[in-house]
Amino acid sequence: MNRRDFSRLFALGGSAALLARDGTALTVTQAPRPAPAAPDERFWKDVRDQFVMPSGYVFLNAANICPSPLRVLDAYFDGTRAVERDPSSQNRQKTKDGREAARRALAAYLRVTPEEIVITRNTSESNNLVSSGLDLKAGDEVLIFSDNHPSNHAAWHLKAERFGFSVRAVEQVNPHPGADYYLEAFRRAITPKTRVVAFTHVTASVGDVLPAAELCRLARERGALSLVDGAQSFGVLDVNVAEMQPDFFTGSAHKWPCGPKETGVLFVNKAVHDRIKPSIVSLYPGDVGISRTLEAFGQRDEPAMIGFAEALALQTTIGRAAIERRSRELAHMLIAGLSRISGVKVWTSIEPDRAAAVVSFLPGDIDPRKLHQVLYETERIVCATRTGADRGGLRFSPHFYNLQSDISRTIEAVQRHVRSGV
Ligand SMILES: Cc1ncc(COP(=O)(O)O)c(C=O)c1O
Repeated sequence: MNRRDFSRLFALGGSAALLARDGTALTVTQAPRPAPAAPDERFWKDVRDQFVMPSGYVFLNAANICPSPLRVLDAYFDGTRAVERDPSSQNRQKTKDGREAARRALAAYLRVTPEEIVITRNTSESNNLVSSGLDLKAGDEVLIFSDNHPSNHAAWHLKAERFGFSVRAVEQVNPHPGADYYLEAFRRAITPKTRVVAFTHVTASVGDVLPAAELCRLARERGALSLVDGAQSFGVLDVNVAEMQPDFFTGSAHKWPCGPKETGVLFVNKAVHDRIKPSIVSLYPGDVGISRTLEAFGQRDEPAMIGFAEALALQTTIGRAAIERRSRELAHMLIAGLSRISGVKVWTSIEPDRAAAVVSFLPGDIDPRKLHQVLYETERIVCATRTGADRGGLRFSPHFYNLQSDISRTIEAVQRHVRSGV
């Protein structure tokens, strides 16, 4: 019996354990269901059972990459198998249709139109399509945020050298000084030469939230374009791009949406379709709107896009507001618990309008790299290290597949290791 047959067999009967070839237990589940008004741990345990991570494995690194639920793996693998069985262009047309369905799913998820969606490889590519595709030259300025990811920071510097425009940065302040502070800092920094304001919705470093809609409005009022890097908000916050009104919004499927690896999105506001040129010119563009020019990347992995749509469908079924509340609740538990450990310095704000689901902290005197390793090896707790002088330490990023017991276990483990050393 293969996994799908098994899955069908148990579709009505709840979850059941299945042994994979390597001996690890996979759990096969019922279809996901909508979160009730006040979901309890049993509900979230059912969500956790959608994933193939073995029980007892605590994954707290969503800001880096997320696991895909079984349904997404099945959609992706089934699509791949269908292509491999019959790689003819006639058969592949079906997966090409899946790509356009994925575009519609992405548009609905972001609350925009399919004509504004480009399916890329990831946030890095999306950000770079913007910095390479705009007509910027000597005398123009781009205003960035100092805590942007390299794909939205170093990339602008490199292109400034190449095309002759200049880059200025609004400095990040720790602890987070509040939305008004950043709004004012950007307002002061914009000049008549500013053509683009490029910032990160939620930072990967410590999870600072920037007031995206207000900053986009400010850019618009000053005649500049806005690029919002949504790598750490897309798929966890209930982002409404129609309300935010950026000119460009970027994200990755393989982070918080829990889609297949190497798929991503670039939203291009229809008001600026004539302002951006393709950086890659090849065959096989998308069917509608801006994808007809910007998405001609040659042959693609369409089954991955079908998996992307399945990941968005799963989140939509559970409820995006419920997922946001859950991730925030777990992050809040982490901040509160870590703050109580003597010697630990939490970098992330506990204020909900300043933080989301990324939590960074300095674990007292112990070497974060050693703690990172010992957590993984002895506790099966996965997180990220933050090396370097800027608010270094460890980063935990919980998501809707985590349980409260994961968080208590993690806090207890950090406390034990900080006390005894590693
Ligand atoms: C804010 C931000 N932007 C962009 C990226 C790049 O994402 P990807 O590797 O999926 O392109 C990351 C990755 O962590 C990120 O945190």
